[in-house]
Amino acid sequence: LNIILLGPPGAGKGTQAARLEEEHGMVQLSTGDMLRAAVKAGTPTGLQAKAVMDAGELVSDSIVSGLIGERLDALGPDVSVIFDGYPRTAAQAEALDALLAERGRKLDHVIELVVEEDALVDRITGRFSCAKCGAGYHDRYKLPKVEGTCDVCGSHEFKRRPDDNEETVRTRMAEYRGKTAPILPIYEERGIVTHVDGMAPIDEVNDAIETILATAT
Ligand code: AP5
Ligand code: ZN
Repeated sequence: LNIILLGPPGAGKGTQAARLEEEHGMVQLSTGDMLRAAVKAGTPTGLQAKAVMDAGELVSDSIVSGLIGERLDALGPDVSVIFDGYPRTAAQAEALDALLAERGRKLDHVIELVVEEDALVDRITGRFSCAKCGAGYHDRYKLPKVEGTCDVCGSHEFKRRPDDNEETVRTRMAEYRGKTAPILPIYEERGIVTHVDGMAPIDEVNDAIETILATAT
């Protein structure tokens, strides 16, 4: 199975992808995570991407499609994949078609998380994650069960993303509206898009996605 989770910043793509990894052994391919890892490691890609990401703009199509190709090659052909934060432009959508075809894969589903923009700023500015294992939390919607302790790994260190401030979020949303939302019709025409209410609680969104996957063959 190859699915795309599509939605603006803060829609819940990463949250839902983590659930699918846990429950179905699918693999999440998040270009945002790959780029942040490259920044942290100080690779040439990371050095190039950092300023662009901090400004909330999009990194070049060739860089992100290159990262996706490398990751697909590292996976066995039978591993199910969730694309999170990719594709984000028409050029990336085209590149993904080619990357999948070259590897004998086909795109089964595009799940759009539909959300209200005003809620996204609140979601993103309240977000934090475990510095050790990366588990995601929120100041109001998903606090660790024991205060100050990661549910998953027990670490006491947490971090926030440098691009999770209101000004950068507004730029990220404008990028989504201008460059990413316009790719939806490409997939609508193929009849593979399902819209899910991303404003519902996390468990309900997960249930809705599970239902879609159960009927996708
Ligand atoms: P990326 O890392 O992809 O960020 P993004 O698209 O802005 O998405 P987020 O990670 O912010 O949101 P999400 O939808 O995963 O939400 P989450 O589940 O965390 O990209 C970052 C940057 O990298 C880009 O700006 C760009 O510069 C670059 N980049 C990446 N990919 C690129 C590409 N393909 N091309 C070019 N450049 C690229 O949820 C948010 C919060 O809300 C969490 O705290 C969560 O707990 C909470 N939450 C989630 N769901 C719910 C719910 N249903 N109810 C209540 N709270 C919820
Ligand atoms: Zn942890």
